[in-house]
Amino acid sequence: MNTLLLHPDTPGDIERAGALLAAGQVVGIPTETVYGLGANALDGAAVKQIFAAKGRPADNPLIVHIADFSQIFDLVAAVPDAARRLADAYWPGPLTIILPKAACIPDEVSAGLETVGIRLPSHPVARAVIRAAGVPIAAPSANTSGRPSTTTAAHVMEDMNGKIAAVLDGGACQVGVESTVVSLAGEQPRLLRPGGISLEQLEAVLGPVAVDRAISQPIGDDVRVSAPGMKYRHYAPHAPVTAVCGDPAKGAAYIASHLTAQAGVICFDEFAGQFDGHIVRTIGRADDPVAQAHAIFDALRAFDDTDVTAIFAQCPDDSGIGLAVANRLKKAAGFHVIEV
Ligand code: TXA
Ligand code: MG
Repeated sequence: MNTLLLHPDTPGDIERAGALLAAGQVVGIPTETVYGLGANALDGAAVKQIFAAKGRPADNPLIVHIADFSQIFDLVAAVPDAARRLADAYWPGPLTIILPKAACIPDEVSAGLETVGIRLPSHPVARAVIRAAGVPIAAPSANTSGRPSTTTAAHVMEDMNGKIAAVLDGGACQVGVESTVVSLAGEQPRLLRPGGISLEQLEAVLGPVAVDRAISQPIGDDVRVSAPGMKYRHYAPHAPVTAVCGDPAKGAAYIASHLTAQAGVICFDEFAGQFDGHIVRTIGRADDPVAQAHAIFDALRAFDDTDVTAIFAQCPDDSGIGLAVANRLKKAAGFHVIEV
């Protein structure tokens, strides 16, 4: 398959992407978090092609993206007051709300669960292409399963060229890590995946939110997890990663004293000078998790073009969007974490 590269500024390209989606094809689309691999969420056969292109296990459900709040009413069984309040506060934006699903959601999307995740993205190109398609769009992150997520159209092409109909190039994603996934389908709100909206922001609207333990701990294959995606090895470059958490200066010193000759480093800007002779990717200052979120997936991907045999990565603390950055790094490390 020849994968078209489309540009939102080229007249007709958004409509073309919308028409491909409406016709049951898979298209890479920009969002404010990461690129998504979109297909018509109401068409099980179209959605199946997403799983094939990604090599994604069939038991991992997809998020359904909408362009206007009113679309949610057709997709879920009911919209509770808590969902309305979250939507008022954080939609459009990097937040996915899990609710009991409506009958129109194909099993391919919900992976056999009785729930569905809904997200109203803020990226204007994402919303324009959903409107052009005329249907809600199911979309996981647009990476090969297990690899770091994609935050530029070039990343999507790296993983998907020849496997999908088109990629719509909306530039680099602003947030850089995926949406926060919160479930309102149980007794108590539960954070299933940290992301662009922080736990603190959720609790400001909802009150106490339970935090799924899969966010900070490895989960065995035999354990049933709330977000099936959390159990898979994820975001991983080819070289093994060690995540170094705790005081940033001590972490940098730890890395400098443990580096093998062929090891690479992901570090906060102020420590870049401490690893002479090694391939170093900076992700922003230690006190700037927003910058770190923007840079983290590009940094993880970049090592796959090098011959590094190990990667040491500095990990932020859990406040704000730091919880999401730390979660992605710990997962990339297969929870091989050093606390300094
Ligand atoms: O920012 C994002 O959320 C991006 C962009 C494209 O919108 N999408 C994304 O999708 O990250 P994906 O499929 O890579 O991650 C979705 C996560 C997975 O961990 C999945 O298991 C979980 O959300 N999930 C989806 N639907 C669910 C459901 N009904 N119940 C529990 N977890 C669900
Ligand atoms: Mg993903």
